[in-house]
Amino acid sequence: MLLAVPAETRRGERRVALVPDIVQRLVAQGWEVRIQSGAGASAFFEDDAYRGAGATVAPDPAALYAGAEVVVSVNPPDAEQAAAMPEGIITLSFVQPATSVEPLRALASKRGTVLSFDFVPRISRAQSMDALSSQATVSGYRAGLLAAEHLAKFFPMFMTAAGTVPPAKVLVMGVGVAGLQAIATARRLGAVVRAYDVRVAAKEEAESLGATFVDLGISAEGTGGYARELSPEELARQQEALAKVVTESDVVITTASVPGRRAPVLVKGDVVRAMGPGSVVIDLAADNGGNCEATVAGEVIDVEGTTVVGVANPPSAMPNHASLLYARNVSNLLALVGRDGAVDPDWADEILIGCCLLRDGKATQAATAEALGAPHEPIADRSGPAGSGPAPGDAPS
Ligand code: NAI
Repeated sequence: MLLAVPAETRRGERRVALVPDIVQRLVAQGWEVRIQSGAGASAFFEDDAYRGAGATVAPDPAALYAGAEVVVSVNPPDAEQAAAMPEGIITLSFVQPATSVEPLRALASKRGTVLSFDFVPRISRAQSMDALSSQATVSGYRAGLLAAEHLAKFFPMFMTAAGTVPPAKVLVMGVGVAGLQAIATARRLGAVVRAYDVRVAAKEEAESLGATFVDLGISAEGTGGYARELSPEELARQQEALAKVVTESDVVITTASVPGRRAPVLVKGDVVRAMGPGSVVIDLAADNGGNCEATVAGEVIDVEGTTVVGVANPPSAMPNHASLLYARNVSNLLALVGRDGAVDPDWADEILIGCCLLRDGKATQAATAEALGAPHEPIADRSGPAGSGPAPGDAPS
């Protein structure tokens, strides 16, 4: 069971897919681990630490991939990496089919199998493998800290000899995993927090962390615990109703997203301009188009006195612990791939079926088939009688 860990090639990426402690655990389970030299350096894991944990360090991609059966990374393989991988390779990383067409094509031509953390089912048994959640936890925490750092005011209430200073007013929009962590972080720092989401369940979760829930009477429950996309009319109504709540806040943290869609615009440009001087918007949806109309991904801009932070790849800003959590997710999912000393994925398992985009080069998921212009060949259809077994791994909608 030869597992390879390349250095990440995405610009600005500082995470690594495996950390030495987890390498040690995998080696004990029978995996042979090979890591590209320097792959963990930006997350403060040196080559020697990997060697000490039982891994081999490869000097370059050619030495890394030779004979590899499984490749684990954080970001999807790029086209060059995919082209260098052996026939029949299994890859495990975040991958969205629409934005990785060339690498997926290269892997399909090698009868590759592609597993994506973006599509691990949100079920109890898969929680320990849920890298979307582990990385969203890091993002939410970072958002709370960034907000406090950019605001020219205190977060907590201060009662001093020079008089009392009121606490900061923070509004968190989108109360998923990242939003809940942003609420918790802002509360720990002493802010007064309000929270908003279109899912009913979010109210109780936000309140349990000490936030006040803003109810606008717009409910948009989708399937699988996700929100659905709002209609243009609903979105316009929402933007209008939110304007007052936004302009009353010192800080707005936005995390709203709908799987497979551009992030909804919750804060229009005129509302940003109407915020008080020195206000701050932290947009965690920046990589996906932004929840704020003024957001520029990866940049901090000033909009008539309001600082708008378009946070790009937030987990990468805390690479050490983000990598540790990611590596645990990887090793838990690998338990379904390497069994009894051999690479032998359990294709009856709904978790593997759910997160599989390509199996032996075939597009097992509808969105991947569409992106590649290839036939859709769901796993359940190929491994059992028609209609039996779990549903194929399509994107949650
Ligand atoms: P996400 O990253 O997909 O979206 C973030 C938040 O944005 C969600 O709460 C969503 O309702 C909200 N949102 C979408 N459109 C909006 C709009 N127009 N206005 C305001 N808010 C909007 O969410 P995440 O963190 O991936 O969580 C999605 C669901 O999965 C949640 O129900 C969560 O509890 C559930 N979950 C379940 C897990 C499990 O059982 N294994 C693990 C993690 C999450």
